[in-house]
Amino acid sequence: MAIEVRNVRTDEEFNAWCDAMDVGFYLPQHRGEGPRRRERYQDLGRVWAGFDGDQLVGTLASLDLRLTVPGRAQIPLDGISAVTVAATHRRQGLARQLMAAELGRAKERGESIAALVAAEYPIYGRFGFGPATETAQWLVDARDLRFRRELPGRIELIDAAAARFEAAALYDRVRADGVGMVSREGWRWDRDTGQSPRDGDAPAKSVLHAVCRDERGQIVGYAAYRFTEKWTNQRPDNTLHVVALIATDPVYEARLWKHLADHDWVTNIVGPEFDRADAIWRDLLVDRRMAVPANGWDFLWLRVLDPAAALAARTYARADRIVLRVEDKDGYAAGTYALQAEADGGARCALTLEPADVTLPVDRLGSIYLGGFTAARLAASGLVEEHTSGAVERLSALFAVGIAPHNPMIF
Ligand SMILES: CC(C)(COP(=O)(O)OP(=O)(O)OC[C@H]1O[C@@H](n2cnc3c(N)ncnc32)[C@H](O)[C@@H]1OP(=O)(O)O)[C@@H](O)C(=O)NCCC(=O)NCCS
Repeated sequence: MAIEVRNVRTDEEFNAWCDAMDVGFYLPQHRGEGPRRRERYQDLGRVWAGFDGDQLVGTLASLDLRLTVPGRAQIPLDGISAVTVAATHRRQGLARQLMAAELGRAKERGESIAALVAAEYPIYGRFGFGPATETAQWLVDARDLRFRRELPGRIELIDAAAARFEAAALYDRVRADGVGMVSREGWRWDRDTGQSPRDGDAPAKSVLHAVCRDERGQIVGYAAYRFTEKWTNQRPDNTLHVVALIATDPVYEARLWKHLADHDWVTNIVGPEFDRADAIWRDLLVDRRMAVPANGWDFLWLRVLDPAAALAARTYARADRIVLRVEDKDGYAAGTYALQAEADGGARCALTLEPADVTLPVDRLGSIYLGGFTAARLAASGLVEEHTSGAVERLSALFAVGIAPHNPMIF
């Protein structure tokens, strides 16, 4: 198969690219949206296509995102998205070619990490990506949901136009402290608050937007939600569906859940689709079993391209020096790196000729990078190799974070 992989060059090619992606994701009904989506992809050098003659048969996009790492740095992130190959051209190596083209370009741009959310688990490990955060959707019994303490915060409904800006601003404040959180472009807020519905879509009037304010009147939480009505034996049995819920801390998160549960007629709440797997706000419930996890899965996958830069960008839990050998058959990250973490949390990292304390493949470096998975956990299954006795424990302690990393943003 003689397939050419290159960036799309014209608006016409971009429109064909969008149509190919929609067909690849089995959403052919969305074809024709190219002109509307064009402004989301300012840099066509990040939009990759596979061409079989003049037929566009493969798509991949790189989003210019930021990732919050331990220590609060927001590092440039190569956000891989829109990976599809036409059903007629699958399993012939095209996704691999598209990925290689983009990862090479990201490395040239100086981005030290690429990330994605995997449609299917088995696809991306082979390309050096490892799962780094986990997610769950929470199902909450809304009848008599009680909390162990008074919850501060005042709830107020706002309209969708106000939500567009308040939610985006709050998200960025939460993201500044939120290890693992990925930046979210403006168009996603426009779409989610009904400011730019797709052609033919009804405006999202069914969604309500609420904010939580602290005693100074500052917005510290936001929730968007809608209802489905049901009556069982003429008794109310409604479900409240949470579209989004974010807050600066778990106490205000709990305050928003209380607001949701306080609705008459609502017997159960289906939480946001990509919530924290550890749902810290539940610790404030009198009965934690009123909230149960559903649909738990891996979420953000990381692919380290430049270990020296990535490891120097985050802070560490203690002072230590450790030598890591990173295996990467695609070459980008391969090498032996000395990581020197200082007592103030800062770090230096550089290639070294010293013998390694630990060897790990690059996908597992992605898994431990944010602290979501520990080296000790991976070593328990033989997934990292220890050369110096105690080095895996030291590596785990070094990378530890107090609160598990979490990213709610799908891309
Ligand atoms: C996933 C998808 C992009 C793969 O494209 P492709 O061109 O068939 O992939 P390639 O031929 O380059 O495959 C590369 C390798 O990944 C493997 N692979 C590809 N898709 C896989 C899948 N869904 N599950 C398991 N392995 C997969 C191939 O077997 C091949 O293995 P190898 O390294 O041992 O040779 C394509 O099947 C697709 O469009 N699927 C539907 C949309 C989708 O899921 N997109 C991903 C969004 S995150």
